[in-house]
Amino acid sequence: MSAPQSAVPRHIAIIMDGNGRWAQNRGLSRIKGHEQGAEAVRESVEGCGDLKVEFLTLYAFSAENWQRPKNEVFALMTLLEQFLKEKTPELLEKNVRLQAIGRLTDLPESCQQQLHRSIEATSGNDGLTLILALSYGARLEIIDGIKSLIREIDAGHIDSAMLDPEMFSKHLYTRYYPDPDLLIRTSGEMRLSNFLLWQLSYTEMYVTPKLWPDFTKQDLFAAVDDYGQRQRRYGLVL
Ligand code: IPE
Ligand code: IPE
Ligand code: MG
Repeated sequence: MSAPQSAVPRHIAIIMDGNGRWAQNRGLSRIKGHEQGAEAVRESVEGCGDLKVEFLTLYAFSAENWQRPKNEVFALMTLLEQFLKEKTPELLEKNVRLQAIGRLTDLPESCQQQLHRSIEATSGNDGLTLILALSYGARLEIIDGIKSLIREIDAGHIDSAMLDPEMFSKHLYTRYYPDPDLLIRTSGEMRLSNFLLWQLSYTEMYVTPKLWPDFTKQDLFAAVDDYGQRQRRYGLVL
């Protein structure tokens, strides 16, 4: 299948799920699944580049994922740091600008440093913006947003009577980005798992049984093609 010509989403968000099952199906450790999952990122980044998608948000590590076994969390953090170090030259070559959302200060120190180096190194790129959701939880994000609003109200910068959804959106981690147009979840689960609860209000959803390490550029094109057939109504009669 070639890249679809129909409506292309401006912003795609992906819940990259199924690394553990991919490994278990092969008798491998879950960590091998995460390694393979990290390799699969290239497929979607390239696919978005080909389609001229402006923003790609990848759910890489949730606030809840800290409760996984210690060795898995350690492996994921090591892998993240290694991924950033190894792939930054590739991101530069592909004109990708890296960003991150989540409680980034929860990440190990060396990981944070590498993340900031990669963000800084790619900050001049004007192609795809790749946003990694790390230690991300939507309910925490909303709470952080409320705290930030309260500070502004207390300082007299905002009149609470003027508060509306647009204003609230400006206090979320995602304030610089438009809401996702298309949400993809791999591995067949029909749930949001605390991902972008506010921002996904009118996002089109696409769930595929494919496990994340098997998700290719062609699979991304298939999802975008499906999106192109949808009629977005936003509650109106069209
Ligand atoms: C997604 O794969 C990656 C992360 C959550 C970090 P999983 O590790 O959730 O894989 P499954 O769902 O157990 O197969
Ligand atoms: C969601 O997947 C988080 C990421 C993909 C990073 P999980 O595997 O953690 O979600 P649940 O446990 O199936 O809801
Ligand atoms: Mg999972």
